[in-house]
Amino acid sequence: MSDIAIEARDLTKTYTHEEFSVTALDGISLTVPNGDFVALMGPSGSGKSTLLHLVAAMDMPTTGEIRVLGSRLESMKDREVARWRNAHVGFVFQFFNLISVLTALENVELPLNLTSLRQKEKQKHAKTALNLVGLGDRMDHLPHQLSGGQQQRVAVARALVTDPDLILADEPTGNLDASSAQDVLALMQQLHREFDKTIVMVTHDSHAAQFANRTLHLEKGRLLDC
Ligand SMILES: Nc1ncnc2c1ncn2[C@@H]1O[C@H](COP(=O)(O)OP(=O)(O)OP(=O)(O)O)[C@@H](O)[C@H]1O
Ligand SMILES: [Mg+2]
Repeated sequence: MSDIAIEARDLTKTYTHEEFSVTALDGISLTVPNGDFVALMGPSGSGKSTLLHLVAAMDMPTTGEIRVLGSRLESMKDREVARWRNAHVGFVFQFFNLISVLTALENVELPLNLTSLRQKEKQKHAKTALNLVGLGDRMDHLPHQLSGGQQQRVAVARALVTDPDLILADEPTGNLDASSAQDVLALMQQLHREFDKTIVMVTHDSHAAQFANRTLHLEKGRLLDC
């Protein structure tokens, strides 16, 4: 594999509805090497989530090219996309997005359901991931029986259970108190340093951004030079 994780050229994204059209990204070119930890900052509405969704192939650009982990996303067929994302990208959301009727262990096992692993193997991987985030003693708890910080750590375990090369996090600490935020940021740093994951983390918090190697600033759909 090349040593570049993300390469974007002249990306634009315009949301068009009947009565309006919004340009969320206005010509983004960007290179992220493998093993980099990038913080993405910018005002509300500047296009941070939109950019992260394009990198995760959760949405497609209006124009431009994007290559992630060697795959050209904009030319990928719809049915390939979900499998590609599941195998290569771990995504952490601001509001955790756990399934409320499933235990921590079952939530973490979910991405493995798209693989050919046997149930025992799935469980073993999910337990390893939960142990890594420090929740080995909470595997059978439902999300509402866990604190916000613990729920987000379950979500991080779910993001890393398939051992993806790339972890994308959209304001992972945006909904947490300072101490839980610190735990999640330390975990991100561990994934980067010990496990060589490439990480792109959207944040509004300059303290959180200090955990990254470098910070990119978006404004009105464009990357600022700094
Ligand atoms: N599905 C959509 N339909 C129409 N407009 C959208 C859609 N999603 C995002 N936008 C618009 O695109 C622009 C960028 O939105 P985006 O969510 O990427 O911003 P953001 O930087 O993540 O903001 P925040 O910090 O508030 O999360 C905004 O003007 C937003 O209103
Ligand atoms: Mg956003």
